[in-house]
Amino acid sequence: MNYRHLGRSGLKVSELSFGSWVTFGNQMGEDKARECMAAAYAAGINFFDNAEGYALGQSEIVMGNVLKKLAWRRGSYLVSTKFYWGLHVGPNEKNTLNRKRLLEAIDGSLTRLQLDYVDLVFCHRPDPTTPIEETVWAMHDIVARGKAVYWGTSEWSAAEIMEAWQIADKHHLHKPVMEQPQYNMFNRRKVEYEYARLYQDIGLGTTTWSPLASGLLTGKYNAGIPAESRANLKDYEWLKPALTDLEQIDKVRKLAPIAADLGITLAQMALAWCLKNPHVSTVITGASRVEQVHENMKAQDAVEKLNPEVMALIDEVLGNKPLEEG
Ligand SMILES: NC(=O)c1ccc[n+]([C@@H]2O[C@H](COP(=O)([O-])OP(=O)(O)OC[C@H]3O[C@@H](n4cnc5c(N)ncnc54)[C@H](OP(=O)(O)O)[C@@H]3O)[C@@H](O)[C@H]2O)c1
Repeated sequence: MNYRHLGRSGLKVSELSFGSWVTFGNQMGEDKARECMAAAYAAGINFFDNAEGYALGQSEIVMGNVLKKLAWRRGSYLVSTKFYWGLHVGPNEKNTLNRKRLLEAIDGSLTRLQLDYVDLVFCHRPDPTTPIEETVWAMHDIVARGKAVYWGTSEWSAAEIMEAWQIADKHHLHKPVMEQPQYNMFNRRKVEYEYARLYQDIGLGTTTWSPLASGLLTGKYNAGIPAESRANLKDYEWLKPALTDLEQIDKVRKLAPIAADLGITLAQMALAWCLKNPHVSTVITGASRVEQVHENMKAQDAVEKLNPEVMALIDEVLGNKPLEEG
C-alpha cells in the first residue's frame, strides 16, 4: 500500500481507504463488517470513513464494536466522522452546522465509536444558514479540545472552503485540512476543475468518495439491477435513475474491453483511474462483501497499467474533460 500526505498536513493516509456508507448497519452487521475491515487493514488501509448520519448512528456503533474486537493499536489507524444531517428532527438538530449542534454531535459520535477522539471530522455539507465563522470556531474548538485531530469539509464549494480557511488563518485557529468530494470517471468537475487553485494556495487534501459511482462502473448494472445490489435496497431507490442511465451504461460497456486488454477488472480500472490524480489523497472504497474488498485492493497494482495512451482511450470513451471547460 502506498501512503500519501493528506494535503499539506503531516498526516499520511493509505491511498485506498474504506468507508461504511450504505453498508454498515444496513447490508452488514458486525461479523461481515469485521471481515471487511480486517481484509482492508491487512491490505495496508489505515483510514476508515464514517458519519453520524450513516444508518442513523448504527454505522458508528458497528464500527466501534468492530474496532474494539479487532483491538488494533490506536496509532495504526484513522477514523472519521461527519456532521450536518443530524439524527433527530428539531430546529437545532437537523441540517445545521451551528455551534451547539457540532459540539454535541462530536460527543455522540465518540460514544458510539467508543473512541477518545476521531482523526478526521468533516462538515458533511455546507450550511448556508449558519455563519461560516461560527462553524469554523466550533470545528477549531473540537480539535483544540482533543476530540478530533484534523477537520475538513465535504461537498463545499471552493469559495466556501477558502472563506473558512481565511477566517481560521485570521484568528490563528485550526484550519480546514481536507475536503471530501465525489470523484469518479463520471464526476470530475469539483476535483479537477473547481478546487484546482486550492491544492496550491492552501494545500487542500482530498478524501474522495464513490469511486465506482455506487457500483455502476463495475459493469454490474449493464444488464439491469442485480438482486443483490445497493440499488435494490429500501431507502436507496433514489439511486436507481443514475444506476440505470443508458448513456452511462453505454460508456461502461465501452470501457470493458480496455480493462480486459489490461488484464484487470472494470472495478480495478475505475479505482486505479482515481489514484492517477495526484490531488487525491485517498480514494474511499466501499464494499458489501469481503470478495469486493479483495478485488478492489488489487487496484493499486493496476495504476501503472494506466499509461498516457490508456488514459487517452478512457477519456475518449468518457467524453468529459472538465479542465477544458470554459
Ligand atoms: N462525504 C459524502 O457525502 C459521501 C457520500 C458517499 C460516500 N462517502 C464515503 O465514500 C465511501 C465509498 O462510497 P461508495 O460506497 O459509494 O463507493 P463506490 O465504490 O462507488 O460503491 C461501493 C459499492 O459498489 C459495489 N461494489 C464495490 N466493489 C465492487 C466490486 N469489486 N464489484 C462489484 N460491485 C462492487 C458495492 O455495492 P453492492 O452492494 O451493490 O454490491 C459497494 O458497496 C462510503 O462508504 C463513505 O465512507 C461519502
